Amino acid sequence: MRARRVRWAARAFTLALVGAAALVAWRAGRPPPTPVVGGAVDPPASAEAELDGRALHARYCVRCHAVDAFDDALRASNQGEAVLDMLSFLEDHGASDGVQDRAIVRFLLLQATR
Ligand code: HEC
Repeated sequence: MRARRVRWAARAFTLALVGAAALVAWRAGRPPPTPVVGGAVDPPASAEAELDGRALHARYCVRCHAVDAFDDALRASNQGEAVLDMLSFLEDHGASDGVQDRAIVRFLLLQATR
Protein backbone atom coordinates (compact mmCIF):
# COMPACT_ATOMS: atom_id res chain seq x y z
CA MET A 1 0.00 0.00 0.00
CA ARG A 2 2.68 2.45 1.06
CA ALA A 3 5.02 1.27 -1.64
CA ARG A 4 2.34 1.84 -4.24
CA ARG A 5 1.71 5.37 -3.03
CA VAL A 6 5.44 6.12 -3.14
CA ARG A 7 5.69 4.70 -6.64
CA TRP A 8 2.69 6.80 -7.72
CA ALA A 9 4.21 9.94 -6.24
CA ALA A 10 7.53 9.22 -7.95
CA ARG A 11 5.77 8.74 -11.27
CA ALA A 12 3.77 11.95 -10.88
CA PHE A 13 6.94 13.81 -9.99
CA THR A 14 8.74 12.43 -13.06
CA LEU A 15 5.82 13.41 -15.26
CA ALA A 16 5.86 16.95 -13.88
CA LEU A 17 9.60 17.21 -14.50
CA VAL A 18 9.29 15.96 -18.08
CA GLY A 19 6.45 18.41 -18.64
CA ALA A 20 8.48 21.31 -17.30
CA ALA A 21 11.50 20.34 -19.41
CA ALA A 22 9.34 20.11 -22.52
CA LEU A 23 7.87 23.54 -21.80
CA VAL A 24 11.32 25.09 -21.37
CA ALA A 25 12.56 23.46 -24.59
CA TRP A 26 9.50 24.64 -26.47
CA ARG A 27 9.85 28.22 -25.24
CA ALA A 28 13.59 28.30 -25.95
CA GLY A 29 12.97 27.26 -29.53
CA ARG A 30 10.63 30.15 -30.21
CA PRO A 31 12.00 33.53 -31.34
CA PRO A 32 11.66 36.28 -28.73
CA PRO A 33 8.60 38.48 -29.15
CA THR A 34 9.22 41.52 -31.35
CA PRO A 35 8.59 44.75 -29.46
CA VAL A 36 6.18 46.95 -31.36
CA VAL A 37 6.30 50.68 -30.63
CA GLY A 38 3.74 52.91 -32.26
CA GLY A 39 3.18 50.42 -35.04
CA ALA A 40 6.84 50.43 -36.06
CA VAL A 41 9.05 47.45 -35.39
CA ASP A 42 11.88 48.55 -33.18
CA PRO A 43 15.23 47.06 -34.12
CA PRO A 44 16.75 44.89 -31.40
CA ALA A 45 18.60 46.93 -28.78
CA SER A 46 21.87 45.35 -29.78
CA ALA A 47 21.65 46.33 -33.46
CA GLU A 48 23.12 49.80 -33.06
CA ALA A 49 25.65 48.62 -30.49
CA GLU A 50 27.03 46.20 -33.04
CA LEU A 51 27.55 49.00 -35.54
CA ASP A 52 30.81 50.90 -35.43
CA GLY A 53 29.81 54.50 -34.74
CA ARG A 54 33.29 55.80 -35.45
CA ALA A 55 33.40 54.16 -38.90
CA LEU A 56 29.85 55.33 -39.67
CA HIS A 57 30.74 58.87 -38.66
CA ALA A 58 33.80 58.71 -40.88
CA ARG A 59 31.67 57.54 -43.77
CA TYR A 60 28.64 59.79 -43.41
CA CYS A 61 29.52 62.86 -41.36
CA VAL A 62 33.21 63.70 -41.04
CA ARG A 63 33.53 65.52 -44.35
CA CYS A 64 31.22 68.21 -42.93
CA HIS A 65 31.52 67.81 -39.14
CA ALA A 66 34.62 67.03 -37.07
CA VAL A 67 34.22 64.35 -34.41
CA ASP A 68 34.26 67.02 -31.69
CA ALA A 69 31.86 69.40 -33.46
CA PHE A 70 28.97 68.60 -31.12
CA ASP A 71 30.94 68.17 -27.90
CA ASP A 72 29.54 71.28 -26.25
CA ALA A 73 25.93 70.26 -26.79
CA LEU A 74 26.61 66.68 -25.70
CA ARG A 75 28.40 67.82 -22.54
CA ALA A 76 25.71 70.31 -21.54
CA SER A 77 23.50 69.75 -18.54
CA ASN A 78 20.57 69.02 -20.84
CA GLN A 79 22.60 66.31 -22.52
CA GLY A 80 19.69 63.88 -22.74
CA GLU A 81 17.63 66.44 -24.60
CA ALA A 82 20.58 67.18 -26.90
CA VAL A 83 20.79 63.51 -27.82
CA LEU A 84 17.07 63.35 -28.58
CA ASP A 85 17.25 66.59 -30.61
CA MET A 86 20.17 65.26 -32.56
CA LEU A 87 18.43 61.96 -33.29
CA SER A 88 15.29 63.67 -34.55
CA PHE A 89 17.35 66.17 -36.58
CA LEU A 90 19.22 63.28 -38.18
CA GLU A 91 15.99 61.71 -39.40
CA ASP A 92 16.07 64.30 -42.22
CA HIS A 93 19.79 64.98 -42.25
CA GLY A 94 22.74 62.98 -43.45
CA ALA A 95 22.69 59.80 -45.50
CA SER A 96 22.74 57.30 -42.65
CA ASP A 97 19.62 55.44 -41.55
CA GLY A 98 18.01 55.46 -38.10
CA VAL A 99 19.98 52.61 -36.57
CA GLN A 100 23.21 54.05 -37.96
CA ASP A 101 22.27 57.49 -36.59
CA ARG A 102 21.93 55.98 -33.12
CA ALA A 103 25.32 54.31 -33.39
CA ILE A 104 26.86 57.60 -34.57
CA VAL A 105 25.27 59.62 -31.76
CA ARG A 106 26.35 57.00 -29.22
CA PHE A 107 29.91 57.31 -30.55
CA LEU A 108 29.81 61.13 -30.45
CA LEU A 109 28.42 61.04 -26.91
CA LEU A 110 31.18 58.68 -25.76
CA GLN A 111 33.80 60.91 -27.39
CA ALA A 112 32.35 64.07 -25.86
CA THR A 113 32.05 62.68 -22.34
CA ARG A 114 35.28 60.70 -22.12
C1 HEC B 1 27.30 67.62 -46.85
C2 HEC B 1 27.66 68.09 -45.54
C3 HEC B 1 27.03 67.43 -44.34
C4 HEC B 1 27.00 66.09 -44.02
C5 HEC B 1 27.51 64.92 -44.83
C6 HEC B 1 26.39 66.00 -42.72
N1 HEC B 1 26.05 67.24 -42.27
FE1 HEC B 1 25.26 67.73 -40.48
N2 HEC B 1 25.04 69.64 -41.06
C7 HEC B 1 25.54 70.18 -42.21
C8 HEC B 1 25.17 71.59 -42.26
C9 HEC B 1 25.52 72.55 -43.39
C10 HEC B 1 24.45 71.85 -41.10
C11 HEC B 1 23.82 73.17 -40.63
C12 HEC B 1 22.61 73.50 -41.48
C13 HEC B 1 21.41 72.72 -41.10
O1 HEC B 1 20.88 72.92 -40.00
O2 HEC B 1 20.96 71.89 -41.93
C14 HEC B 1 24.38 70.62 -40.34
C15 HEC B 1 23.76 70.46 -39.14
C16 HEC B 1 23.90 69.34 -38.33
C17 HEC B 1 23.42 69.24 -36.99
C18 HEC B 1 22.66 70.29 -36.21
C19 HEC B 1 23.66 71.22 -35.58
C20 HEC B 1 22.97 72.27 -34.77
O3 HEC B 1 23.70 73.13 -34.29
O4 HEC B 1 21.75 72.22 -34.60
C21 HEC B 1 23.76 67.99 -36.53
C22 HEC B 1 23.50 67.42 -35.15
C23 HEC B 1 24.43 67.32 -37.59
N3 HEC B 1 24.50 68.16 -38.69
C24 HEC B 1 24.93 66.07 -37.53
C25 HEC B 1 25.36 65.33 -38.62
C26 HEC B 1 25.69 63.93 -38.58
C27 HEC B 1 25.67 63.05 -37.31
C28 HEC B 1 26.02 63.59 -39.84
C29 HEC B 1 26.35 62.21 -40.33
C30 HEC B 1 25.28 61.24 -40.31
C31 HEC B 1 25.92 64.77 -40.68
N4 HEC B 1 25.51 65.81 -39.89
C32 HEC B 1 26.21 64.81 -42.02
C33 HEC B 1 26.25 69.51 -43.17
C34 HEC B 1 26.42 68.16 -43.23
